[in-house]
Amino acid sequence: MRLNGKVAIITGAGEGIGRAAALRFAREGAAVVIADRNSESARETQSRIIADGGRAREVITDVSSSAECSRLIEQSLNVYGKIDILYNNAAITSLSPVATISDEELDRVLAVNLKSMFYLCRAALPSMTAQHSGVILNNASITGIVGAPGMAAYATAKGAIITLTRTLALEVAESGIRVNCICPASVDTAMLRASFAATPDPERARANNIKRHPLGRLGTPEDVANLALFLASDEASFITGGTYVIDGGATLARRWREE
Ligand SMILES: NC(=O)c1ccc[n+]([C@@H]2O[C@H](COP(=O)([O-])OP(=O)(O)OC[C@H]3O[C@@H](n4cnc5c(N)ncnc54)[C@H](O)[C@@H]3O)[C@@H](O)[C@H]2O)c1
Repeated sequence: MRLNGKVAIITGAGEGIGRAAALRFAREGAAVVIADRNSESARETQSRIIADGGRAREVITDVSSSAECSRLIEQSLNVYGKIDILYNNAAITSLSPVATISDEELDRVLAVNLKSMFYLCRAALPSMTAQHSGVILNNASITGIVGAPGMAAYATAKGAIITLTRTLALEVAESGIRVNCICPASVDTAMLRASFAATPDPERARANNIKRHPLGRLGTPEDVANLALFLASDEASFITGGTYVIDGGATLARRWREE
């Protein structure tokens, strides 16, 4: 029970990495606020946690809206009385290069993937500061470190999240708040499968993608949830401002060429 008595908000917890983290955190004793724009999948995550004997509450939220982010924090405080962990996980993919991205796609990706983190951190900081403790986790990506041709807005947002994490960590360290970010390579979720599906040969895209990971497989949502659990727990109490790569060796190998 590494999160016993803690309250965690996880955005995008309706599926993929967010759902795996919600289930893992709840099993470790946290009460989890499941924030997702998709009510059906959020409810499913909530039901699974409750069936497992845990505590969870879904709050339907579009994280690209500053007002909805403020409402999420308010509702979480009303229901559970405090926020110990804010896991900024929700994001959308974007498969456009700089040369052709539309204004609408650029605005949408930056709003959902990056500005949401400003909105939520800003809204959560007063209560974390008052209790002189808190953990913020931001999901970035290795694309924020090495770039990703054809995913310009997505990779740019992820790079900015690394900088946001470092900056915020320094701004709030004296308030007892830790801030870290997680950079996965390819994780087998709906988001990744959609990017394979957008290629002429999805099976081949998947096989080529696996080859980029020296450990010989894609990551699982549970792999990332385990790292998030450690960073959220008191075992990581001396860790802040960090960028944690979880990539099966992919960044090191940099075998980013189609074969
Ligand atoms: N899957 C990968 O290969 C991979 C790799 C690196 C980083 N990541 C990052 O991990 C995080 C989770 O990715 P995933 O693969 O689990 O994604 P996913 O698409 O499987 O799940 C994303 C969840 O976020 C929700 N969501 C999307 N837009 C939202 C919005 N505006 N408001 C609220 N909720 C919203 C969706 O409904 C969904 O439940 C993202 O930040 C992603 O960029 C994923």
